[in-house]
Amino acid sequence: MSFIVAVDGPAGSGKGTVTKLIGDKLKLVTFDTGAMYRAISYHMLQEKISVDDIESVKKMLDEIDIKLDFSTGSQVLFLNGQKLVTELRTKEVNEIVSPVSHIPEVRAAMVKLQRKLAEGQNVIMEGRDIGTAVFPNAAVKIYLDASAEERAKRRLKQNLENNITNMSYEEILESINKRDENDKNSDISPLRKADDAIVVDSSNLTIDQVTDKIIKIINDKKKMIKLEKKIYSEMPESAFKHATLWSIKHAMLLFFYWPVYRLKVVNKQYVPKDGAYIICANHLNMLDALAVVCSNKRKVRFLCKDEIFKNKILRGVLKTADTIPINREKNDIESMKRTIKGLKNGDLLGIFPEGTRRGLEKNVKVKNGAAFFALKSKVKVIPLGIQGSFKPFTKVKLVYGEPLDFSEYYGKEKDKETLDKVSDIIMDNIIMLTNKEK
Ligand code: DC
Repeated sequence: MSFIVAVDGPAGSGKGTVTKLIGDKLKLVTFDTGAMYRAISYHMLQEKISVDDIESVKKMLDEIDIKLDFSTGSQVLFLNGQKLVTELRTKEVNEIVSPVSHIPEVRAAMVKLQRKLAEGQNVIMEGRDIGTAVFPNAAVKIYLDASAEERAKRRLKQNLENNITNMSYEEILESINKRDENDKNSDISPLRKADDAIVVDSSNLTIDQVTDKIIKIINDKKKMIKLEKKIYSEMPESAFKHATLWSIKHAMLLFFYWPVYRLKVVNKQYVPKDGAYIICANHLNMLDALAVVCSNKRKVRFLCKDEIFKNKILRGVLKTADTIPINREKNDIESMKRTIKGLKNGDLLGIFPEGTRRGLEKNVKVKNGAAFFALKSKVKVIPLGIQGSFKPFTKVKLVYGEPLDFSEYYGKEKDKETLDKVSDIIMDNIIMLTNKEK
């Protein structure tokens, strides 16, 4: 699978320089998408195609052939076989490239081409719409910004280095402000930060500092991806091996748990020997899920926030019981799929509807996840009241209630009111059981 870094931001924010440096350091293919819009502009100038002549633009887009060559380590662009370098940076091209890049047909063709060219590669791509339109699922999205004043200063310095002296600082600043305004307010792919992009402001940073900052963001993300792979890896096993392995693992867990906590289970008969069910319990302590797992011969697969998986030892324990990681920061589709698949396969799941330890005491709103899965997968909920101080060498009491049947609500898992109602019924039953047989 390819790894994509999207870098967007206004002109003069340093995208080009920084992206190239990072690409070289991290061995990512470095795409400069502005060059592609410049190539189209160059071609339109050559062929005298007006920006308003959409039919001719469309025809040109059908016929044109843009290729990128990276064999020298940097992007070299070929248009219909002709290598273009200085041609892309002329005053004439500069003048029309912005309107050209706002032609919807041009944008659509470029986005398509950019996706195709990046296929299967590890890429850092810079532009204006990479994180929002070209690769909305990029692994890393950076929005590189700098104040208009700083960008004007940089442009002035660049101009002087190239003996261009026809614009004062004030004129450059005015033109940058105008262009920003245009880019941000354009109807077609306006320049905007993707919601999940990380903003890096380069105004007061050196190139090296910006580069290091972004490299750190990329490396952190790579580490996270590696960790997620570990968290989500599943060993395919035969049903027999699975059952045998579980007996051994269960015995091991009990071996460690039993000497520390005395487990007392009331109404064990309410946990059927097979079939899909969801056990919903109050959440007192980090170790209460383990109490439920240890006291059941059947494997209880809990849903647990993925942060806990970061700890190597805990990860081992959690994976032993096939715990399902859930990222609560986002809509964790992967986790939902696993839960639904588990229920389809007849698993016994464990969920703490409070979502956090002692949530009720903290007045935290009950989460609707358990209700959602019960209605979506058409399974009964087994309420469970957990009692205990969880101080070592004390008793932990688990009181099960009769499975709750929500069949009258099946198919209504998208209705918030229904979910709230079902969640309340579940929670009321749990609370009742926590007060039972003290
Ligand atoms: O980054 P640059 O100055 O070479 O870009 C040239 C023009 O192309 C500029 O007006 C912005 C536009 N552009 C765009 O609209 N979308 C991109 N992904 C890249 C550049």
